[in-house]
Amino acid sequence: MTGGFPDASKINENLARAASEVGIAMGVGSERAAILKGQYPESYACVARFPVPLKFANIGAPQVIPQHPGEAVVGEREVRAAMDLIHADVLAIHLNFLQEMVQPGGDRKARGVLDRIGALADQFPVLVKETGAGISRTVAEQLRDRKVRAFDVSGTGGTSFAAVEHYRAVEQGAEREARVGKTFWDWGIPSPVSVLELVPLGLPVIASGGVRSGLVIARAIALGASAAGTAGGILRAAATGYVETRRELEHLVHELKVAMFLTGSRTLAELRHAPYVVTGESRQWLRA
Ligand SMILES: Cc1cc2nc3c(=O)[nH]c(=O)nc-3n(C[C@H](O)[C@H](O)[C@H](O)COP(=O)(O)O)c2cc1C
Repeated sequence: MTGGFPDASKINENLARAASEVGIAMGVGSERAAILKGQYPESYACVARFPVPLKFANIGAPQVIPQHPGEAVVGEREVRAAMDLIHADVLAIHLNFLQEMVQPGGDRKARGVLDRIGALADQFPVLVKETGAGISRTVAEQLRDRKVRAFDVSGTGGTSFAAVEHYRAVEQGAEREARVGKTFWDWGIPSPVSVLELVPLGLPVIASGGVRSGLVIARAIALGASAAGTAGGILRAAATGYVETRRELEHLVHELKVAMFLTGSRTLAELRHAPYVVTGESRQWLRA
């Protein structure tokens, strides 16, 4: 979720310590600042000091292709540095083109991005994640064909980066971007729908985007996800302290166990086969 500014060290340390003690995976935020500009590497590197069971390095898809003349691009060397910095197991490449469209001066070139991701997926274990707009099956198939090994859907229903950037654009007096942010506020695929679209591809799918309780994690597993993730749901605790972060993670685990108990699921594998009913907006999506 974060890194690249002075206060991020504390947040990442709180997350890494709590995640290692509770036995939960963790991904840092975009390492662009550290890798390309040498900014605050320690705010990421602190994660490497904790035995987090699974760690995700992070770079943005717009950074793997040239955006502006003369600007550095993330290639094999930079990815290696990003992974080494936190002793990562997996490289997460995030898709955030909606955010870039709302951000004044955003990185908006996308041509060739699939092949560049593919070139990196040839060399590294790559997971592709969204940042709040969800991943469609069509996109996931193209990525799977390029050796991407897992997905993190990050669909609508949680943090909206169109909204976040809308407010920033308003502050900066960027009228067009502010308007795009408002118009595309909730653009994207709902998280449960994206999970259901991607699970049949047979690769691990992480459910995220609006995950705020252990019950939602249980629902995601029942839909076929391998795991679930939260960013906005842990941010406040992580910014407050280690104790708060650990408590929140333990609440999530406990609620997941309650759902498993109530559905008679002894293991996550059994929960994966629990019957479920899809209602509301997701149901409409699946019918369409
Ligand atoms: C403060 C904050 C910073 C984030 N920074 C990144 C980032 O650098 N890289 C990334 O892949 N996702 C980033 N995300 C997106 C999250 O990983 C996640 O995909 C998205 O917030 C949806 O999940 P949520 O509803 O639980 O917040 C960030 C989210 C938040 C809240």
